[in-house]
Amino acid sequence: KILVTSALPYANGAILLRHLVEYIQTDIWVRFQKMQPKDKVAECWYVCADDTHGTPIMLRAEKDGITPEALIERVHGEHSRDFAGFHVAFDNFYTTHSPETQACANEIYARLQKSDLIEKRTIEQYYDPVKQMFLPDRFIKGECPKCGAKDQYGDNCEACGAAYTPNELKNPYSAVSGATPELRHSDHYFFKLSDARCQDFLRRWTREAGRLQPEAANKMQEWLGSEGENKLSDWDISRDAPYFGFEIPDAPGKYFYVWMDAPIGYMGSFKNLCEKRGLDFDAYFKPDTDTEFYHFIGKDILYFHALFWPAELEHAGYRTPTAIFAHGFLTVDGAKMSKSRGTFITAESYLAQGLDPEWLRYYYAAKLNSTMEDIDLRLDDFIARVNADLVGKYVNIASRCAGFISKKFAGKLAGTDAAWLKPLRDAAPHIAQAFEEREFSRALREVMALADVANVVVNERKPWELAKQEGRETELHSACSEAIEAFRLLTLYLKPVLPKVAEAVEAFLNVTPLTWNDAATPLAAGHKIGTYSHLMTRIDSKQIAALVDANKVSLAPVLEAAPQKHAEKQEKAAEVAVAAAEASPHINIDDFMKVDLRIAKIVDAGHVEGAEKLIRLSLDIGEEKPRQVFAGIKSAYDPAQLIGRMTVMVANLAPRKMKFGMSEGMVMAASDPNGKTPGIFLLTPDVGAEPGMRVK
Ligand code: MSP
Ligand code: ZN
Repeated sequence: KILVTSALPYANGAILLRHLVEYIQTDIWVRFQKMQPKDKVAECWYVCADDTHGTPIMLRAEKDGITPEALIERVHGEHSRDFAGFHVAFDNFYTTHSPETQACANEIYARLQKSDLIEKRTIEQYYDPVKQMFLPDRFIKGECPKCGAKDQYGDNCEACGAAYTPNELKNPYSAVSGATPELRHSDHYFFKLSDARCQDFLRRWTREAGRLQPEAANKMQEWLGSEGENKLSDWDISRDAPYFGFEIPDAPGKYFYVWMDAPIGYMGSFKNLCEKRGLDFDAYFKPDTDTEFYHFIGKDILYFHALFWPAELEHAGYRTPTAIFAHGFLTVDGAKMSKSRGTFITAESYLAQGLDPEWLRYYYAAKLNSTMEDIDLRLDDFIARVNADLVGKYVNIASRCAGFISKKFAGKLAGTDAAWLKPLRDAAPHIAQAFEEREFSRALREVMALADVANVVVNERKPWELAKQEGRETELHSACSEAIEAFRLLTLYLKPVLPKVAEAVEAFLNVTPLTWNDAATPLAAGHKIGTYSHLMTRIDSKQIAALVDANKVSLAPVLEAAPQKHAEKQEKAAEVAVAAAEASPHINIDDFMKVDLRIAKIVDAGHVEGAEKLIRLSLDIGEEKPRQVFAGIKSAYDPAQLIGRMTVMVANLAPRKMKFGMSEGMVMAASDPNGKTPGIFLLTPDVGAEPGMRVK
């Protein structure tokens, strides 16, 4: 009995192709397990959830002008849609903001308290006096204490790579309000990881066979230090209000830190599944269970899963994970995903471009193994690989032979136990082992080698020529029937990777859903198959170019940027625009026509209280009601001068909720991207242009 998880995606962002490495990897492994006979794998459950708590989610909701609950509900819908689109088949995709997760978190916390592993301590932390909240490290910026670089985060410097604490930053400011933070005292709760019981346990646990990959186990030894050394510090598991999360029992105003309740979300999701399906939760989580529990994660979150989490479970009297499987990071064309290059690709955009999700599943699988090595999505290699393997080798077998069976033999097969098929059938355990060990690239290499064998046989027998010659019907019948049996075997081996293709093949072959043991049972003589219809098309390189284009950031909306840090944002936007222009010097007319530019008459203009850089504009573009737009032009214009003026606005920019109200578009102005000539210059049309006229 197996319980499998993937890391819980944060509920404030879209699913990207880089996240899918993990969900596709896990899904393939789970689908493989579910194809095993019941005496081997009695049950296998795959659970996940959105990771919904913490400061970034709270602030993001505030910025969007909605409650955190509304934000996480919307994102849950988007994530569910994207996972389903890539055939990631969770048995439960839940949320950490659930009664089950809260109950488990409270229980674990109470048991750790009882074991005397929780301690309350006073700490000093930066506080934002304007926003009235304690600031996480990521929300404090300032000058690097080592190299003096400006606008560095509170934990490390992106310019020189130095690591430090927020207190060491020079001229710190809050990234939330811009205010200068103050150091204040607060009580925090700690999980005593430095306790000898935790250290001893972790030293043992991380070395146990099979728990961690060798490179991960080594990393843990580094972090743990040698016997007698005490390198682990206690872990701060509480945060002060305002915070979006679970309030700690008997500690009003104190919340569980998001990384405390996130892994507990695995339990919460499974508990919810147990309630829905009548499963026995305790059978999986009691300390002496014989069930298995696996986590698939990225290498960046190993610390949380291989140290904090097992220590928590162990000392709260639960079972610990059977093993943790960490994978490497995805790069695209050898580089980190980049917005300006258009390689910061969302799952949604891939599907929206009409690309087949199984192409990506196949490509990832062809690259994945059981190590923590990074994997590179090389776009030209992606096209070549999918076209050569899936279309050229695999689908080709059926497409060349199936038609003759329906046309000449009424859909009925001849016998299929030819000698050449034996190696294809006998490969089942070997390929199974590769899947089991998460050596997917090896598994697929073997499958494609078998496809090569089948293609050689088909090429030698040439059914298309046999079909033209009289008296060779028997030969034609066997050639095609055997090829169909080879195709069935290949489909079975590819099924964990290509579940939808496999489903279509099962329907075409008129067989029940393929399981691993079915390799041993050939299609019988006389078995009637259905008509073949196209299973998969080739990738056209134009489709990939379009995908990359669709993910390039458009010119950032410079003028409606939020007030604080406005000038920098303007600079950033200019840089991004330049980078985008360098990456692709041209857009086509259709791209340009997406921007709905209109002549606008400024019917009203005024100052915005509390905003240093913004002017509120009311713009008549021939609609019933004027549009409200906040423009960052206060340094250059007096609102009174603007009333009555004509200008140009982007009318189809998504409305954006700002602190001061909705901004329903953007006015256009010129500025020097290099900042040499200061000033902002609003555009004006020639005399005679009317509000609402299209600009193109
Ligand atoms: N919310 C945490 C996980 C909590 S688990 C109790 C988190 N979320 S995430 O959305 O940032 O990442 C989800 C998964 O995607 C993580 O396992 C992460 O390692 C993985 N990846 C993020 N970037 C990645 C790549 N560039 N390549 C491959 N996987 C990557 O972390
Ligand atoms: Zn520095």
